[in-house]
Amino acid sequence: MSRVALDRILQSQGFGTRRVCQRLVADGHVRIGGTLVRDPQREFDPVGIEFTVFDEPWVFREQVYLALNKPAGYECSRRPSHHPGVLSLLPEPMRCRGVQPVGRLDHDTTGLLLLSDDGRFIHHQSSPKRKVPKHYVASTHDPVTPELVAAMRAGVQLHDEPAPLAAVHCKAVGPNRIAITLAQGKYHQVKRMLAAAGNHCTALQRVAIGGLRLDALALPEGGWCHLGESELGLLSAG
Ligand code: URA
Repeated sequence: MSRVALDRILQSQGFGTRRVCQRLVADGHVRIGGTLVRDPQREFDPVGIEFTVFDEPWVFREQVYLALNKPAGYECSRRPSHHPGVLSLLPEPMRCRGVQPVGRLDHDTTGLLLLSDDGRFIHHQSSPKRKVPKHYVASTHDPVTPELVAAMRAGVQLHDEPAPLAAVHCKAVGPNRIAITLAQGKYHQVKRMLAAAGNHCTALQRVAIGGLRLDALALPEGGWCHLGESELGLLSAG
């Protein structure tokens, strides 16, 4: 990449308007590779550049691809109304550079949520045509019976769907716990399928998307991380 003025680099990374970024640099809050730089117009090759703002370390990234271990009680919508939004769990520069959730989880659903500021990635990942398998574990009010598992595999009819929806995989993982893999992402799909099959979902966690498993990321609840090439590659597997 060609050389870019420091104020523009900071702006691209979500540190505010160009004017705000100029002030940050001129006021001595920015270090590049450990060295204080006070000239906002000084140019750098941004690729892989390591910098600090108010002593917090950052690495230049053209786009960001994140995984969040979503806790219960957070909304994925752009304008959250009843609960705080998931974006409030990220540092301010991530929100400022336009990071958005890829698809949605219900406010009370926990687990793996992808976020990015790459519109093409968001569109590609959320396209219904891709049929990326999403893996969930649900807790149920009534015990998980072989009949429930069979119904989820065979397909259950939801009110507003033209045809029955079936789980790609489904098995009991405890007396009141069921693992379900879906190839679609309809509104409240897991909860509505369990209800249509005669049970009730009391808690829901998304444990994997494609071959990307939440437990492999070792994120605490509410924690997030950047996803690298190999982890992004896993989204097409599994
Ligand atoms: N299915 C649901 O019912 N809720 C979610 O959040 C995700 C899948």
